[in-house]
Amino acid sequence: MILVTSNRHKFEEIAAMFGVAGIPLEWKHVKYEEIQEDTTEIISYRSCVEVRKELHDDFFLEDTGLYIPALHGFPGPYSSYVNATIGYAGIQRLVDGKDPTAYFKTVVSLSMNGTIMQFGGVLKGAISGQAKGSTGFGFDPVFIPEGEVLTLAEMDIDAKNRLSHRGRAVSALIRYLITLKS
Ligand code: IMP
Repeated sequence: MILVTSNRHKFEEIAAMFGVAGIPLEWKHVKYEEIQEDTTEIISYRSCVEVRKELHDDFFLEDTGLYIPALHGFPGPYSSYVNATIGYAGIQRLVDGKDPTAYFKTVVSLSMNGTIMQFGGVLKGAISGQAKGSTGFGFDPVFIPEGEVLTLAEMDIDAKNRLSHRGRAVSALIRYLITLKS
């Protein structure tokens, strides 16, 4: 199976799960137009449609957003821009004094035999006032999953995959791929 992403961290997290499932995974970079839409589902779907124009093999990609209800869902579909501009420290400032509850949502889009299927995963948690940890990427140093004390950046890849938005979406994808083989 081919994973299209330009993000090394995403590839490493997903490759660890495919490795456990015994499914070979190939990493491909495909250049396509940046999609700006209102939801993670639509961004993921439209990105998949764009990549299909270039890549005719079966593949999947994913899009992830960080949603903060106290900020009316911001940054949501703008997560990438926000991470590249104000970063997690900017998010901490925006949340300061408000309800820090947040969630990540990942939507995987699989292009297979001419159709697109989606698999989703959500991780609830909160934005911490204190950045901690050095693993992972993006907002990981300030995100503490519900029921946990460590930030995602204090967990190793396997621990993050067991509970994360991406881990859940990719588990659903892997379960689907296994049913196709049996
Ligand atoms: P993307 O558009 O799916 O690449 O992700 C949107 C933004 O969210 C990027 O800036 C990422 O750094 C960040 N992000 C995506 N996934 C994660 C994650 O698992 N942990 C922390 N930040 C993430």
